[in-house]
Amino acid sequence: MSQLFSPLTLRGLTLRNRTVVAPMCQYSAQMGLANDWHLVHLGRFAIGGFGLVIVEATGVEPRGRITYGCLGLWSDAQIAPLGRIVDFVHAQGAAIGIQLAHAGRKASSPLPFLKDPDAEQKARHSYEDWQPVAPSAFPHDAGSKVPHALTLEEIAGIRTAFVDAAKRAGTAGFDVIELHCAHGYLLNEFLSPLANRREDQYGGARENRMRLPLEIAEAVRKVWPADKPLFARISTTDWHTDGWQVEDSVVLARAFKARGVDVIDCSSGGFAESRIEAGPGYQLGLADAVRKGADIATMTVGLMGDADMAAAAIAEGKADLVALARPALEDPNWPVRALAATGAPEVYALHAKQAGYAVRGLHKALDKA
Ligand SMILES: Cc1cc2nc3c(=O)[nH]c(=O)nc-3n(C[C@H](O)[C@H](O)[C@H](O)COP(=O)(O)O)c2cc1C
Repeated sequence: MSQLFSPLTLRGLTLRNRTVVAPMCQYSAQMGLANDWHLVHLGRFAIGGFGLVIVEATGVEPRGRITYGCLGLWSDAQIAPLGRIVDFVHAQGAAIGIQLAHAGRKASSPLPFLKDPDAEQKARHSYEDWQPVAPSAFPHDAGSKVPHALTLEEIAGIRTAFVDAAKRAGTAGFDVIELHCAHGYLLNEFLSPLANRREDQYGGARENRMRLPLEIAEAVRKVWPADKPLFARISTTDWHTDGWQVEDSVVLARAFKARGVDVIDCSSGGFAESRIEAGPGYQLGLADAVRKGADIATMTVGLMGDADMAAAAIAEGKADLVALARPALEDPNWPVRALAATGAPEVYALHAKQAGYAVRGLHKALDKA
């Protein structure tokens, strides 16, 4: 059986295999509360055999949501609906993580599938609009809102919001927290010289630009149980000569590791200036560079839906986990299907118990099992 389907232990958590569902915004919440859509969307991946399912970017404060339809974890009322999803995913044998996020200057965007809501739609979807915040008062692009530049006191408040959300994630029963430091959102805006033009201790030299993400990692680690892993998603490169580079990410990954981060989820891009050349496995080299450069476990993501390529990424030691977003939407049973294709009899146990025995019967009838 391929190593892609071998277990991985991180602190006190053992994942049944190395396949992960990457966080995917659903823009389907109201007031940040999870609902039946999130249960079915995320639960389906656990039924399909993934080892770890990561909940979408979840705002640590209301103005940290990308849209008014994004999930939040700034209030205790948001714990129970997420806990219901945690319990379901656990019952299917998968682990579950949550991506804690602040959208920074890319907050208060329209829903991608409802760009221009009328009054009735606004009322039905609990429409909200607000001024985003950022390290510096420059918009993401010409069409974006101009953000308010955060004061030192407000930065401290955001750090506290991450810590409080982490505590709530623990109460909800999550196995993993992923800190969203990628894709041009708030923590990435602090890291990148493309967005951070501050002149205080949070801007200028790389050490200063790394300060807030590192402070948050350290503070979250203190309240996140020692037997539970902490991930950080980074934009490993801005894909721009004046921006953040892979060498910067190696330094950041070492600093994260020293503060108790266990896995670096190596994504990239997210600024208007980024020039990404995407293709199959286009970010795998980034995970490999960080894994070797910082001696830390990595997760690769980005057009990794080819099962042979995913298996090779693990077998060749380029990454420890393979995350899928769009390929998982296309086929929520991706792990079961990929394992079945190898002929491994373990596939029947990877199916939900409600399905495994029946599929085995089908294969017996067809002389395959
Ligand atoms: C519908 C959708 C929503 C996404 N939402 C998030 C998100 O909440 N947080 C995040 O870090 N990335 C998000 N992404 C990016 C994915 O996690 C992933 O990095 C990207 O799609 C590349 O992987 P893929 O080629 O497997 O789709 C989203 C992608 C999709 C398709």
